[in-house]
Amino acid sequence: MASDELFDEIREMPNADADREFKKLVGLDRLKDILLKEASLILVPELLEQWSSKKHGIVLPCVEQFHNRPPVMVFSGDVGTGKTTLADSLGSPIAREEDIKVTHIRLSLTTRGEGAVGQMTSLISRAFDEVVKLAKRGTKSDGKPTSAVVFVIDEADALVESRDTEQMHHEDRAGVDAMISGIDRITREHLPVLVILCTNRSRALDPAVLRRAAIHHEFMRPDAEQREALFRRAFDRVFDDEQYRELSRRTGSNASGRNYGHSFSDITQRLIPNILLDAFPNRPVSFDLALSILDRTEPTRPFGPTDGEQKS
Ligand SMILES: Nc1ncnc2c1ncn2[C@@H]1O[C@H](COP(=O)(O)OP(=O)(O)O)[C@@H](O)[C@H]1O
Ligand SMILES: [Mg+2]
Repeated sequence: MASDELFDEIREMPNADADREFKKLVGLDRLKDILLKEASLILVPELLEQWSSKKHGIVLPCVEQFHNRPPVMVFSGDVGTGKTTLADSLGSPIAREEDIKVTHIRLSLTTRGEGAVGQMTSLISRAFDEVVKLAKRGTKSDGKPTSAVVFVIDEADALVESRDTEQMHHEDRAGVDAMISGIDRITREHLPVLVILCTNRSRALDPAVLRRAAIHHEFMRPDAEQREALFRRAFDRVFDDEQYRELSRRTGSNASGRNYGHSFSDITQRLIPNILLDAFPNRPVSFDLALSILDRTEPTRPFGPTDGEQKS
């Protein structure tokens, strides 16, 4: 199977589309900073040594330990909170910052692995083989890789559920084991690869996988401020301050007794387009029109009983 059949997406970074996607994500600035820093250090480990030599005169022992961590990040949280978008676009700012080429690869597990026993396991193993091959292509000059790979395993729920659960079939365990062995290989060989696992259910994550994660970030539905920012960005200067706040309030958790608010994608992909469609072609967007659409648009239910719930 060729690698473009094996994976759902392969993109070379830097890439202007990815830059735009990365920038448009609201409310993730602190996370973006940490991720970029962490990703830079995973992909270009020498940076930390250089910093240590400069600031401490020696390479501190903890620097080496830092590099022995598996290069894995886990993104968990409710559907439509930006996990896939961030994982898919992160490679581009890294590529620019470090002046390297980054190959972004995504494997989505929900669309896969049905059918013959062993299919998922073999898919994972082949995917890691391919990723390792790509990573080794990046030959080093002056100790710095010329290219790196960001490998996103999306919808990992299908696989990375707790290995302890009794219902889990033998086949699922084999899939998790294949993934762990792939991760361990990348760690052992210090390859310039960053593995990002996205899952809707963090509680069911396999402990052995979670333990390997350098970063585990739980994505939330937008809070009041973030919702307001989405409306301000979409309808630049259409409403006044109080109206933006009202739109934010009404898309929040306590509106009509709901204990969850709209997700990012509820607002950007349903609510806002519906407002546009209603106004087009004969009317401008107005506050009343926005409210009437809002009243008719229910947020998606959070994935688990409490997943993604955020009071604001
Ligand atoms: N933080 C965010 N800021 C702005 N838009 C967002 C954010 N998170 C999600 N979205 C919107 O929701 C859409 C779906 O997000 P996605 O990354 O697929 O969510 P997930 O993978 O968590 O289910 C995105 O294309 C984007 O339009
Ligand atoms: Mg997703």
